[in-house]
Amino acid sequence: MLILPGPPVLQSTSRWKMADPPCIEVVMNKQTETVINYHNRTKHRLERYAKGPDSIDWDDQPDQFRRFSGCDIVTLPKTGTELEPLFAGLDNPETIPAKPLTLANAGLLLELAFGLSAWKQFGPSRWALRCNPSSGNLHPTEAYLISTGNDFIKSGVYHYVSHDHSLEQRCQFTDNVPESVILIGLSSVHWREAWKYGERAFRYCQHDIGHALGALHYAAATLGWSIQLLAEWSDDDIAKLLGLARSDDFKPLEHEFPDLICRINTQAGSKPLDIRILLEHAQTGTWSGKADSLRAYHLYKWPIIDEVAFAASKPRTEEPDKPIARQHIIKSSCAKTATAIIRQRRSAQQFDGRMTPMPQTDFYRMLAAVLPTTAASEFWPWPPKIHLFIFVHRVEGLAPGLYALPRDQNALEKLRAATLAEFDWQKISQVIPLYHLYSGDCRVQAKTLSCHQPIASDSAFSLGMVAEFCETIETTPWLYRRLFWECGLIGQVLYLEAEAAGIRGTGIGCYFDDSVHELLGFKDEQFQSLYHFTVGKPLEDKRLETLPAYGHLKT
Ligand SMILES: Cc1cc2nc3c(=O)[nH]c(=O)nc-3n(C[C@H](O)[C@H](O)[C@H](O)COP(=O)(O)O)c2cc1C
Repeated sequence: MLILPGPPVLQSTSRWKMADPPCIEVVMNKQTETVINYHNRTKHRLERYAKGPDSIDWDDQPDQFRRFSGCDIVTLPKTGTELEPLFAGLDNPETIPAKPLTLANAGLLLELAFGLSAWKQFGPSRWALRCNPSSGNLHPTEAYLISTGNDFIKSGVYHYVSHDHSLEQRCQFTDNVPESVILIGLSSVHWREAWKYGERAFRYCQHDIGHALGALHYAAATLGWSIQLLAEWSDDDIAKLLGLARSDDFKPLEHEFPDLICRINTQAGSKPLDIRILLEHAQTGTWSGKADSLRAYHLYKWPIIDEVAFAASKPRTEEPDKPIARQHIIKSSCAKTATAIIRQRRSAQQFDGRMTPMPQTDFYRMLAAVLPTTAASEFWPWPPKIHLFIFVHRVEGLAPGLYALPRDQNALEKLRAATLAEFDWQKISQVIPLYHLYSGDCRVQAKTLSCHQPIASDSAFSLGMVAEFCETIETTPWLYRRLFWECGLIGQVLYLEAEAAGIRGTGIGCYFDDSVHELLGFKDEQFQSLYHFTVGKPLEDKRLETLPAYGHLKT
């Protein structure tokens, strides 16, 4: 329980209970029930972590790079191309001239979104980092490119191999689709993540999809292109188009789950795409290749992940296509190119707990960048459901303490009513909706809540992303996944904004769910914290050697 005026105190043994009556009434359908059960069961608690493997054999880690044997390979042109647009220029994407749609530029899109950014080496261990982050660096997300008929590549479905920067042609369409475009599809190999994280892994896969979507947006914007989420598609549709429903092409337990499909708009005025026509092409096309084994022993099985994936699968829907009005509140002063910022993004492993406070202007800019009215959210047509509760440790001109950033004005009163009565909810900025809740040194609490990780306390600030939970998923259980995607998207913005401000961020998937709720005063499932994040001055681990992203392709 939080006690004022002293610092917040955590009850280390307390177990949070559902309020009476529960927020979701007994009328909830079976799928929602499965999703809620999964969510509650995979909470980390101070007294025990969610179910995961008892031991991990690191030599048995699933292969991070999926390959399909038996496909034609398209080698993409060289990596590492620098483009002129500045990171600050991405605030106004309409000012960035669109690059022509060529194989080189489609390859650059894939590289900047999902490609390798570096290799790290420590003694005999060597591991790749990518432009998109991933919980535990396990990378469950797979990316596909669909060409409907462009002169630089045959029409069909291609799997992107980030290690080789190449495309494997999984399907060749018999003819071109009338509208010539490229699409990007994303899927998840849940097992790759569950190998390390057990039952909680489904959540992390969804975060990673949100990050990957954000990474795709920034990559496209850098090329002067934009992404359009084809949100009406069902998971079955996506599976059919990407070939994921061809179960014989995958090893048992190593199949991929469909997540989303985006159209890449490379020029203005494109005509709508008909789902049925694309699906017909995938159905009548010639498929080749079988997924190689991910080469790991399936010692532990987590059937609840398949259960929740099924319960949270998305049907075909009608979705708003009208984007929310855009408004850029605080300009970025970053003078680096967008390609440099994207490639230098890393997770901080440690922060300098003694840093001088971070400039308030940078803090405000970072928060302004996650508001739904910025360019980074231009493809997200839904009202925001995720709000930030921020532990400020070291920010110039701000008292250390707890602050809130409701990302939707309509949520303000609900959040105020659901949190502790002691919070003062004083708006402290005329420019962004930032509210002071409580002053005090919250470093111990921030660290404890984030699974005792010092990255949550040694930073300039760390935060919890709180979802409007039960109202959102009550009748539409698949929105559970979209809540995590929204968190991942916010996380991706924070990662890049931190780099642009000369500091660094880290996503935090490990936190004690109900202790966070208890500290904030939540008494039921109306709001749930779904992701944490931290930003500050990083400490480099000098023992690690950094090697070029694609040096291995040049030898
Ligand atoms: C969803 C998600 C959760 C994460 N959780 C943690 C965490 O709890 N603690 C941590 O130190 N890093 C965490 N990370 C950072 C990852 O370990 C990091 O992204 C990964 O090692 C790849 O490194 P990179 O981000 O530098 O490319 C998380 C990242 C993501 C995307």
